[in-house]
Amino acid sequence: MHIGVVYSRLRVEEKWLFKALESREVSYERLLDSQAILHLDNDNNEWSRFDAIIIRSLSTSRGLSIARVLNSFGIPTINPYSVSEICSDKVATSIALKNASVPQPKSLLAFTVKGAIEAGERLGYPYVLKPVVGSWGRLVSRINDRDAAEAIFEHRDVLGNYQHHIYYLQQLIQKPGRDIRAFVIGNETPVAIYRESEHWITNTALGATATTCEVTKELHDLCQRAATAVGGGVLAVDLLEDPDRGLLINEINHTMEFHSTVPLTGVDIPGMIIEHVRQVSK
Ligand SMILES: Nc1ncnc2c1ncn2[C@@H]1O[C@H](COP(=O)(O)OP(=O)(O)O)[C@@H](O)[C@H]1O
Ligand SMILES: [Mg+2]
Repeated sequence: MHIGVVYSRLRVEEKWLFKALESREVSYERLLDSQAILHLDNDNNEWSRFDAIIIRSLSTSRGLSIARVLNSFGIPTINPYSVSEICSDKVATSIALKNASVPQPKSLLAFTVKGAIEAGERLGYPYVLKPVVGSWGRLVSRINDRDAAEAIFEHRDVLGNYQHHIYYLQQLIQKPGRDIRAFVIGNETPVAIYRESEHWITNTALGATATTCEVTKELHDLCQRAATAVGGGVLAVDLLEDPDRGLLINEINHTMEFHSTVPLTGVDIPGMIIEHVRQVSK
C-alpha cells in the first residue's frame, strides 16, 4: 500500500497524520498541492502509484478539483469528491439532510435583496446569514432587525461578487452557549466536543473553548445518519442543541481539524483516520 497526503501547509494535523503513517510503517509521500499537476486525458500517469490519497488542502476548490480528478482515475480519496462536494456547499448539505430526513435548522435560499428580506421575514428576526461556501465562521452574520438586513444585503449586492448574491438564511437556534462537534470515521463516532463561547459563533478558530462531550447513542446514531446522508467518510459533524427540537445538524466538514480535540480527549483521531484509509485504499 502506498498513500499520498496532499496538503497546503504543515499544520499539527498533517504532522500527526505523517506520524501515524510512520508508526504503522505505511509507505507514503507528502504532496504539496501548490505543486500538483493532474493529467485530464489519461489515467495511466504518475498518480497511479497511489492506492489512496488523503486530501488536506486548505483551499476548498483546490481540494475538490484534486479529489475529482483522482477519483476519475479510480484512486480513492479521503474524502471522495462526491462527499466533499456536498459538504463544502451549505445548500447541497441542506438538501442531502432533507432527503435523508435528518433534522436541521429551517434554512431558506434567496437571490436578490428584496427576496432575501422577504425570506428573512418568513424566518423572523433574529436570523443567520451565511456564505454558501465558507468555514471558520467567516461572514456568518446574525441579523437582528430589518435595518440590519437591508444594510447587509445592500452591501453584498453592491460590493460582493456573484457568490455574495446567493443568500442562504437560517433560523437562529437558541443554543445553550455552545455547539457540538462530533468526529465520524467510517461507521464510528469516536469522540465529540462542546465548543463553548460567550459569542454566538462558537468556532474554535474564533476562540471558543473545547470540553469533552459524551458520545451518547442518540448522538452517535444522528451523526451516522448525517454522515450517511452525504456519503460517509472522515467527517466532523456540527450540531446545535435546539431547546424544542433537540439535536439539529448544522454542517458537516470534510477536511476536519482536530488539534484541540486530540490533546483534550486523548482519542487518537489521526491513527483512526489511517486505519480508515487502509480500509478504503485500492
Ligand atoms: N442557525 C444557527 N443558529 C445558531 N448558531 C449558529 C447557527 N448557524 C451557525 N451558528 C454558529 O455559528 C458557527 C459557524 O457557523 P457554521 O455554519 O458552522 O459556519 P462555518 O462553516 O463558517 O463554520 C457555528 O459553529 C455556530 O456556533
Ligand atoms: Mg462550522
